[in-house]
Amino acid sequence: MSPSPSISPDTRPTDSTTPPTDRGTATATTDTATDPTPTPEPPPTPATGQARTTAPLTPSTLRTIVRELAERPEEWIHHVRLSTEERWYRRLAADEDHEVWLISWLPGQSTGFHDHGGSRGAFTVALGELEELSLGGPDQGLLIRRVPAGTARAFGPEYVHDVRNTAVGPAVTLHAYSPPLSSMAHYDLRAGGLVRTSEEGPEQW
Ligand SMILES: [Fe+2]
Repeated sequence: MSPSPSISPDTRPTDSTTPPTDRGTATATTDTATDPTPTPEPPPTPATGQARTTAPLTPSTLRTIVRELAERPEEWIHHVRLSTEERWYRRLAADEDHEVWLISWLPGQSTGFHDHGGSRGAFTVALGELEELSLGGPDQGLLIRRVPAGTARAFGPEYVHDVRNTAVGPAVTLHAYSPPLSSMAHYDLRAGGLVRTSEEGPEQW
């Protein structure tokens, strides 16, 4: 009974973000990034919902949302576009609690390191394959993960990552954020670690 966002066209121009589950295999695996501040699971709330939860949806709930939406391609596949200029993206649904985005990635397209402005998030690869880079603990350094079709990632409010398509074909992903994204900061990875370089808000999306 996870929230089931009703898809409504977004009037904003397309732009880029982070995204959905791959439905290629029945044995899809799920990987969850460390959430440093786990929170109790709030009661699921419909994305169309009238009621608003007092706490953000958890990464686990967001992961369920994108995974289940990926299993219903009839609700989003006809929206997918590809852009050679940058990642293409479209917001599929939004309410006070969370929002859902659809993103396509051509080979070589990437986000760069970024945070999510304090929002929790999840994404799943529906088609294709992506690669995710993040910084682990002091003994781990840079972590590089394959995120193939059917895989979902979920993360807490402090998470910073770089997502890229290093495969030879396009990828399509679904993403959910709670609360809805209010800002995103970008970072450069330098010898001493991540250095914040810029911040953008919804007006850039
Ligand atoms: Fe992201």
